[in-house]
Amino acid sequence: LNKTVRVAVTGAAGNIGYALLFRLASGAVFGPNTPVQLQLLERDNEQSKAALQGVCMELFDCAFPLLTKVVTTSDPRVAFDGANAAFLIGSMPRGAGMDRSDLLLANGPIFQEQGRALDEAADRNVKVLVVGNPCNTNAYIAYHHAPNLDPKCFSAMMRLDANRAVAQLAEKTQKPVCSIQGVRVWGNHSNSMYPDITAATIAGTAATELVDEAWYNDYFLPTVATRGGAIIKARGKSSAASAASAAIDHMRDWWNGSDGRVVTMAVPSDGSYGIPEGIVCGMPVICTGNGNYEIVKDIEFTAAGRARLDKTVAELVKESETVAPLIAE
Ligand code: NAI
Repeated sequence: LNKTVRVAVTGAAGNIGYALLFRLASGAVFGPNTPVQLQLLERDNEQSKAALQGVCMELFDCAFPLLTKVVTTSDPRVAFDGANAAFLIGSMPRGAGMDRSDLLLANGPIFQEQGRALDEAADRNVKVLVVGNPCNTNAYIAYHHAPNLDPKCFSAMMRLDANRAVAQLAEKTQKPVCSIQGVRVWGNHSNSMYPDITAATIAGTAATELVDEAWYNDYFLPTVATRGGAIIKARGKSSAASAASAAIDHMRDWWNGSDGRVVTMAVPSDGSYGIPEGIVCGMPVICTGNGNYEIVKDIEFTAAGRARLDKTVAELVKESETVAPLIAE
């Protein structure tokens, strides 16, 4: 067996946490030969603590051979102690009458505190995946409060958007999901995202030859960009199992490498494509193993694609300006 991996999960008793923990403990990310220690963070109130206790009882009852220990806490420094991987899921949901900037400022302090705690306590090569929304800018806040960690330790989740795009293409062309490569989603995890199929192939044929532009513009783009809202409408709750599954995909590829495949992660920009340096932006990357990734370079955009990228990046820049006071603190 390999060395035990310490995995922190915040908001562990929530919907996504419930869909994620059991897969983490079964080896879905770190493999069948790597024991896992779960370090679970929840809010410091009776209801959250009781819910987390119930989840722990179920984890216990699964008798997972790879699960060595479960720590529960409401102190981020305890949750992140020696953490090799961290899923930051816990955050405040958008309440009635709140707009995006209200949500940013309401959730910002959580990610300030957790960034500082990661800086203090986590392994120096920790892989942090921010899922809690607005995830790109929450990741931006977190890494700014972790000056002793490489910003490349932080990413935000756009894999669900990429998976949704792949699923739509598979359905439209009636080809298997595994035959689809090269789909990428740029920008912000919001309605402004840019799902890009210009380099995608389906069983070796360019996707743009198999689907027409009207379908792409009028159906595919709005369906992928507003899928989260459609799930809430249908289910009465936000997507949880598909979000957890995307979090598994994201961390598994980041940790192990993506075998040369292009995957979408929101990562701090290195200035490529004129995306301002430091903004946490959905981009195509290749995970090269051992927790490293490289941003795919030299992509050419169509005029429409460039306009979409500029629009979603402008939204991220605006969000970074909104949270500037939180960065300065
Ligand atoms: P939920 O409300 O069911 O669970 C959130 C949990 O976080 C709750 O148990 C709550 O007690 C806990 N929590 C809140 N603040 C915390 C803090 N400061 N420290 C520790 N725990 C805290 O929500 P759900 O459905 O699990 O979603 C979680 C987040 O993921 C939301 O922000 C949601 O918008 C986001 N999300 C992101 C997606 C993406 O693609 N990036 C997709 C789907 C959801």
